[in-house]
Amino acid sequence: MLQVPQEESSRVRRQPAAAPLRIGLLGLGTVGAGTWQVLERNRQHILARSGRPMQIVAVAVRDLARAARIVGSAVQLTDDPWEVANHPAIDVVVEAMGGTTLARVLVLQAINQGKHVVTTNKALLAEHGAEIFAAAEARGVIVAYEAAVAVSIPIIKALREGLVANRIEWVAGIINGTSNFILSEMQDKGIGFAAALQDAQARGFAEADPRLDVDGIDAAHKISLLAANAFGTAIPFGQVHAEGIAGLEAVDLQYAEQMGYRIKLLGVATRGGSGLEVRVHPALVPVDHMLAAVQGSMNAVMVKGDASGTTLYYGAGAGSEPTASAVIADLVDVARTADCASTQRVPCLAFQSHAMRALPVVPIAVTTSAWYLRMGSDASPQAERAILRTLLRCGLQARIHGRYTQPDRSVHHVVLTQTVPHAALQQALAQLALLPMRTGKTQAIRLERLE
Ligand SMILES: NC(=O)c1ccc[n+]([C@@H]2O[C@H](COP(=O)([O-])OP(=O)(O)OC[C@H]3O[C@@H](n4cnc5c(N)ncnc54)[C@H](OP(=O)(O)O)[C@@H]3O)[C@@H](O)[C@H]2O)c1
Repeated sequence: MLQVPQEESSRVRRQPAAAPLRIGLLGLGTVGAGTWQVLERNRQHILARSGRPMQIVAVAVRDLARAARIVGSAVQLTDDPWEVANHPAIDVVVEAMGGTTLARVLVLQAINQGKHVVTTNKALLAEHGAEIFAAAEARGVIVAYEAAVAVSIPIIKALREGLVANRIEWVAGIINGTSNFILSEMQDKGIGFAAALQDAQARGFAEADPRLDVDGIDAAHKISLLAANAFGTAIPFGQVHAEGIAGLEAVDLQYAEQMGYRIKLLGVATRGGSGLEVRVHPALVPVDHMLAAVQGSMNAVMVKGDASGTTLYYGAGAGSEPTASAVIADLVDVARTADCASTQRVPCLAFQSHAMRALPVVPIAVTTSAWYLRMGSDASPQAERAILRTLLRCGLQARIHGRYTQPDRSVHHVVLTQTVPHAALQQALAQLALLPMRTGKTQAIRLERLE
């Protein structure tokens, strides 16, 4: 065993105690309570790394009695969140309330008061990040937000620090655990979207109002923040193309599987010749691709850098302590660098603010993609030829990959196209809708190889 020399060990012990980092919590729900618990349980362990004790000074909630049962009497409890934002004895405010209205003004007020901010709120930053980061820079304080993007996965740290040498080519991933859970259920159990959603709600993986998750908005918030950190661009939330998973049917997951693909809700941000593509949509991913193996509520993010090549990050996409893990990592960063000049800190959005650009985002209508198409028709023998002729007329070279007769004797024709302009696909869908033997709406899902 390594013996610490007497002189050395007493020198370590004589280190003066560092002043605690004084924390105010806005919210003590899933995230806030997890943060409290992990800070309590791992107090010594965190101190050994951060060099400064973490002290929660005040907590704002609505239900004071419930909060008192969690934190006891040693902490100031208030139902007025402004008391935390303005508290004279707080160095850093952790915003774990959610929402974009009150949270925005409270965060701006805390910054204004010279407090650092750690937030878990992707909606807040996607919508108001420009204002919040500018205010923080002007005031010389930190706004940290690791938990807001991929919860337990330190992807912001990876982009801002570990991959700093790279020109990032793309960043993509499964960044909404609820949708991934629903798709996994549909895949494994062969059930429809509505049943899988119900199951997710019953098991606590989906909110009573699941629209933010299943419509792709939550993933759009997150991919905007990833794009900003990857490419040094203004947060492009307003220009993100977002499609959700509510229109998917179990047969599509089954047909995809038979062709060697899984369907995943992806967030993708990629740099092309004419600008950035930033989009959220379901996509077929080859079954041997690492993202295809991400099941249940887990998240994964891949980043392709010109020097690093492709790197993969995987972890829990929701939950009390996984989120607390990222919140506390941010708190430790604040503890370590609060006394540094702003120029010595890692920039909030990875790039020095003077080097950030509002890079153009390519409208989805001018992007290209390969597609999975499922078309329904009656059982007439000429249906298949009519479908292929229609596709060809619109510039889509395609062949039928699968023919599936349904219990009502109608037929599903499944096609994978080559890479085609979005406009050609739209034209083909409009033309297919006019075919007399058609039954139902054509299902169109992008195919993403992420190489
Ligand atoms: N849950 C996750 O796994 C997760 C992961 C990553 C990021 N996030 C983000 O973290 C944030 C919080 O999520 P959560 O799941 O912890 O939410 P939550 O469980 O609903 O907790 C919200 C907390 O904020 C408090 N609060 C809300 N409005 C308030 C007000 N006007 N005044 C005082 N207190 C108020 C609530 O007080 P009461 O307890 O008294 O109602 C509650 O303690 C959201 O932005 C979410 O998107 C969550």
